[in-house]
Amino acid sequence: MDKKIETLQQKREQALAGGGEARIASQHKKGKLTARERLHFLMDEGSFQEIGMLVAHRSTDFGMQKQHYPGDGVVTGYGTINGRLVYAFSQDFTVFGGSLSETHAEKICKIMDLALQNGAPVIGLNDSGGARIQEGVVSLGGYADIFYRNTKSSGVIPQLSAIMGPCAGGAVYSPAITDFILMVENTSYMFVTGPNVVKTVTHEEVTSEELGGANTHATKSGVTHFACANEIDAIQHIKKLLSYMPQNCEETAPALPYESRDEKRPSLNSIMPQNASQPYDIREVIEEVIDGGSFLEVHKDFAPNLVVGFARLAGRSIGIVANQPAYLAGVLDINSSTKGARFVRFCDSFNIPLLVFEDVPGFLPGTDQEWNAIITNGAKLLYAFCEATVPRVTVITRKAYGGAYDVMNSKHIGADMNYAWPSAEIAVMGAKGAAEIIFKREITAAEDPEAKWKEMEQLYSDKFANPYRAAERGFIDEVIEPADTRLKLIHAFKMLENKVVNMPRKKHGNIPL
Ligand code: HXC
Repeated sequence: MDKKIETLQQKREQALAGGGEARIASQHKKGKLTARERLHFLMDEGSFQEIGMLVAHRSTDFGMQKQHYPGDGVVTGYGTINGRLVYAFSQDFTVFGGSLSETHAEKICKIMDLALQNGAPVIGLNDSGGARIQEGVVSLGGYADIFYRNTKSSGVIPQLSAIMGPCAGGAVYSPAITDFILMVENTSYMFVTGPNVVKTVTHEEVTSEELGGANTHATKSGVTHFACANEIDAIQHIKKLLSYMPQNCEETAPALPYESRDEKRPSLNSIMPQNASQPYDIREVIEEVIDGGSFLEVHKDFAPNLVVGFARLAGRSIGIVANQPAYLAGVLDINSSTKGARFVRFCDSFNIPLLVFEDVPGFLPGTDQEWNAIITNGAKLLYAFCEATVPRVTVITRKAYGGAYDVMNSKHIGADMNYAWPSAEIAVMGAKGAAEIIFKREITAAEDPEAKWKEMEQLYSDKFANPYRAAERGFIDEVIEPADTRLKLIHAFKMLENKVVNMPRKKHGNIPL
């Protein structure tokens, strides 16, 4: 037995050595950790159990039979994060550049299958040169096997992808299907075709970082939800994100112990500027209302006119969607609509209640928006709210104009409790524009049209620039003092804890895409 155990030890050591010292040193020199180091920092100490450490590729072309690396460029297994089960794969760039072979894909699929059967999240740490070039189509088949599982698992278990190196070509589509993407600044990139192909086809000169680096995808495309300063920062973000989520769609997210104390927030009474066209930062409202320091903003630098993220209220996990008056007056446009829709659908899939703060002047006008389908894209946010069955509460802080009033979690589309601050203006449009249209004749005929316009604006404003018309109709459940917002929300979400909604039976809906 001793001899046999010695053989096992040798095989294990060979697997642990990855692509060898020189390649590990080169990985470190680039500011990157190895696949195993990443798992070490990700999992609770000593909890990681590896699966398939000795799996080897089966290819024989191009002298591959002479290149034997147990594990085949990916470390897979399960462990715990803050005591909760997770499955993970971590690609090893030191072995064939982390490229995906048939067997590499099989290892990933094995843990994806286990995760789905056992109802726990999957975390992918991606660092790969893409399809294993020596293998050809079997590698492509391996990718497709992963995409298929990503899609099957979508909405059943949370799936998180951290990009910690190259991720190019069709390889990008596995992370794209998962729930959240995190990228590391300066050492990771994602693109369908790299700078060389771009230059040949479109004659554009662009670096990898400009084309598909973390900051590009965090600000321009919205492909990544988080741009992290380094790999440790990315790993911390993964842990924090998971803390707001349940293990699967049948469960609710873990709650932290919470003791009730004075829930009044007097500073909220003076947060609203005197002038309704003045901006304020909705994040300040969010921070006052939620449990201190619990906000984890998602897609922070993409479409900043809508703020979305996770937080805790009286210890419980919630998802927040809020118009941001401090950017483009909080208007809804294509990017903010898709950003919001995706977030709402994630929360609804995983039983995370939704809290909406509304201060929206409407949808962004213009040819750019219309020609790029603000109609279809705005409909995504509307559809996402309409189909969400989790507890849903809205607070209208100021403007709730036009179609955006309906879209932003109005009572009419299934919200459970809708509050308004006394500063709320719930109307078809702003008073100035409204007066211009409906009193056009009076204004034109007046001796002083400007003064008439002002008078009519005031008339419209007195009638509609308040929350009371909506409250009379019951479209608003209660007009509240801002200082009481936290208290009201704690009560409302507690009351809605056991909400059940039965939707009509269907295969799946057809969200406008
Ligand atoms: C096999 C690969 C590989 C690959 C890298 N390597 N990519 N081996 N298949 N796809 C190997 C290299 O031979 C090298 O081996 C080691 O990994 C490190 O690669 P380097 O080039 O030395 O590293 P670096 O300079 O950091 O460049 C990284 C890289 C580059 C930018 C990723 O390797 C590269 O361009 N690779 C090819 C990328 C690619 O075209 N992949 C296919 C895309 S198509 P040694 O032995 O020297 O250490 C695709 C389709 C997916 O992925 C479709 C899904 C539907």
